[in-house]
This record gives sequence, structure tokens and C-alpha cells, in this order.
Amino acid sequence: MSDSNANVPAESVSQSPAPKRRKVWRYVIGVSLFLFVAIQFIPYGHNHTNPPPTASVTWDSKATENLVRAACYDCHSNETVWPWYSSVAPVSWLVQHDVDDGRKELNFSEGNLHEVDEAAEMIEHNDMPPWFYRPMHSGAKLSDSDKEAVIKGFAATFDSATPHEEHED
Ligand code: HEC
Repeated sequence: MSDSNANVPAESVSQSPAPKRRKVWRYVIGVSLFLFVAIQFIPYGHNHTNPPPTASVTWDSKATENLVRAACYDCHSNETVWPWYSSVAPVSWLVQHDVDDGRKELNFSEGNLHEVDEAAEMIEHNDMPPWFYRPMHSGAKLSDSDKEAVIKGFAATFDSATPHEEHED
């Protein structure tokens, strides 16, 4: 009895795995496509507004302004450039969240400058612009000299102390 049982599974197992796996993949791709289309209808992420500015910053120099515009204005002003992929979920959700939160913290177009003293530190520590934003935006890849220039530019524009001067013992 135990001999005849041992023969049965060996044959049936070796037959079917490939077609089964293909079926699973077809199912996975089908469900993914369906979900991708379905999430496009979720209302969040389409609010691509640039409200009229109520204030503006007089930057200390055109050079500072250019750097900040390229690296920060998409999330910290009402002059956001909304690229095509910012309309495609789930990227649109991330972009919407970043712009909403970014403007709440710091908005050069509305005189919301409470956090501006943090800018130098954020830039220095590579916290801003956020890492995931940099690959898609060449202007956001700040070289060391760009960073130094922006930090000095912030200090000159907002009249705050330049960081790092305390290290001269
Ligand atoms: C891709 C969007 C994006 C870009 C570009 C960006 N920021 Fe931000 N920033 C945010 C978000 C979102 C927050 C709020 C959440 C957080 O603190 O991480 C924020 C917060 C801040 C804060 C407040 C930080 C705190 O916690 O006190 C400062 C200051 C700031 N950003 C400066 C900058 C500067 C300067 C640049 C350009 C060099 C820049 N950001 C570019 C999205 C962005």
C-alpha cells in the first residue's frame, strides 16, 4: 500500500508548475493594471493650484534668487511647476502632500517665513530639497558651492546670522 502511494505524486507534480505560474502572473498584472486605473479616480492629488501671491521676497542677489527658485519654489511658493507625472496617481498624492506641507512650513509667495531660519541647516544637512525631488530636477542638485551661496544668500536676505561662525576658537 505504501509503495503504490509513493508513485502517484512524483508524476503529477512534475507536470504543471509552469502554466500555473504564468496564470498567477497574468492575474497579478491584471489586478495591478485595474488598481492603477482605479486609483486615478481618487479625488486627492489634483488640486494643482498656484494661488495669486500676496507677498514676495526681495532676494539679496539675482544669483540667490535663481538658486532658490530652482531648488525650493516648487514646494515653498505659489509658483509651483506641476509636471505631467504630478497628475498620475500615486505620484500625484506624494507631490500634493509635499506642496501642501511645504507651503504650510514656508511660503515665499505669502510671506510665510517663520521657518526661514531653519533653511541653512536644512540645506547644509541635505534635508532640503528632499532627496526624492533631486533626480527629477537638475536645478535642485546643489553643489557644495551652490549650497554655500544659497546659505549666504538666505543670511543676507533675511538678515540672520551665518551659521558656522562659532567654530573659530
Ligand atoms: C519637493 C518639495 C520640496 C522642495 C523642493 C523643498 N522643500 Fe522644504 N519642505 C518640504 C516639505 C514637505 C516640508 C515640511 C515637512 C518637513 O519638514 O520635511 C518642508 C519643510 C521645510 C522647512 C521647515 C523645516 C522645519 O522642519 O523646520 C524649511 C526651512 C525648508 N523646507 C526649506 C527648504 C529650502 C531652503 C528648499 C530649497 C533649497 C526646500 N525646502 C525645498 C518640501 C520641499
